Amino acid sequence: MDKVRIGMVGSQFAADLHLRNLSKLRGAKVDVVAVVSKNKEHAASFAKKFEIPDFYDDYRLLLKRKDIDVVDLCVPTDMHEEFSIKAAEAKKHIICEKPLTGYFGKERKEEQVGFTISKKLMLEEALRGCDRVLKAVKKNKVKFMYAENWIYAPPFTKLKSLIQVSGGTILDIRAEESHSGSHAKYSRKWKTSGGGALMRLGAHPVGGVLHLKHYEGILKYGKPIRAKSVMAEVGQHTKIASFLKEKKKYVVSEWDDVEDWGVMVINFEDNSKATVFSSDAVLGGVRNTMNVYLSNAVVHVNINPHNALEVYAPEPHIFGDEYIAEKLETKAGWNFPSPDEDWVRGYPQELEDFVEAVLFDREPISGIDLARGVIEAIYAAYTSAEEGKRILLKKE
Ligand SMILES: NC(=O)c1ccc[n+]([C@@H]2O[C@H](COP(=O)([O-])OP(=O)(O)OC[C@H]3O[C@@H](n4cnc5c(N)ncnc54)[C@H](O)[C@@H]3O)[C@@H](O)[C@H]2O)c1
Repeated sequence: MDKVRIGMVGSQFAADLHLRNLSKLRGAKVDVVAVVSKNKEHAASFAKKFEIPDFYDDYRLLLKRKDIDVVDLCVPTDMHEEFSIKAAEAKKHIICEKPLTGYFGKERKEEQVGFTISKKLMLEEALRGCDRVLKAVKKNKVKFMYAENWIYAPPFTKLKSLIQVSGGTILDIRAEESHSGSHAKYSRKWKTSGGGALMRLGAHPVGGVLHLKHYEGILKYGKPIRAKSVMAEVGQHTKIASFLKEKKKYVVSEWDDVEDWGVMVINFEDNSKATVFSSDAVLGGVRNTMNVYLSNAVVHVNINPHNALEVYAPEPHIFGDEYIAEKLETKAGWNFPSPDEDWVRGYPQELEDFVEAVLFDREPISGIDLARGVIEAIYAAYTSAEEGKRILLKKE
């Protein structure tokens, strides 16, 4: 095989991100053969925009094609399990956006799943979903590539090199993804998002900390250091009475049965800890950060914001339509645009790893074990917040 032939699934935000970041590989290591989307017109315009030869509105037609090696799942999270299993059965390798899956309600018609269903049950059901995917992937001998870009972000890979050379022990990790709130409609309700801030935003830093301790364990003992328990608290800060009275809202506030704030403490087998914060009510542009306190060093990973560029404008119109940073409220004052935000966030590196994993028949750096670990930790966090106690994770 000299090129990987990809079928794109989905044609909106995440699909756009993937196509943009595959651009340097296309023609050399990758052919994007077709795209499928629920909406045929949208699939057609996406195909035109990115010069993809074929488009469909039925996933089964994509799976039937013999000239597709990999499906790239950029569909809503509640479809990841079903679409992954179908891909595996059709002997296609899978790129799957984060998070792997979750609990969305049995009937999909249930209202306010987040307020009515026990989180312990959600944890069990979500893990069953992960295991069904794992089983299908193993049985059909295909690769599952988990699109967690943090693992590939250059500041994060530099952190890994520093951890390796320092030989220190990771004692304490403090990680965060926050911004002023998703504008996607699906994010408002548990039955379409599978959770709130911890699930949509926290999945990235949780993936990051699990991967780091895994990495440290391999370096020191030849086996991963796993998470052993989780404690958490969640909240709906945009329901605070005084906030509700404020006329002008700078943060998204239409959350239904999902949290807009969460914090979780992950306790690892070696008794080191990681704290993960995520919030949909933080102003000032997206925050993707990780502070790592080693026994002999400190590393602050600033994916966003970082200060490769520091720019100032007395009024917002001065920078016109030029992109500054995700979820930034104003272009006035001092700001910190990234010279190449996709690159700093690890998207092209992630996709290159996946393409090479297929080309050279090796495992990707971010695979199904990480994807499952993230779901387990996050749903254990929800269970902890609901029950007010530490949740022990099951040993496999
Ligand atoms: N890694 C990241 O930074 C990142 C960023 C954004 C979104 N995501 C993840 O990507 C996934 C998709 O998010 P999004 O924001 O692009 O969602 P979206 O709602 O913008 O797009 C979903 C796409 O799925 C398609 N789709 C839905 N049902 C389908 C069906 N039955 N058959 C074929 N296509 C179908 C829709 O037509 C649409 O094109 C989510 O899991 C999300 O968590 C990841």
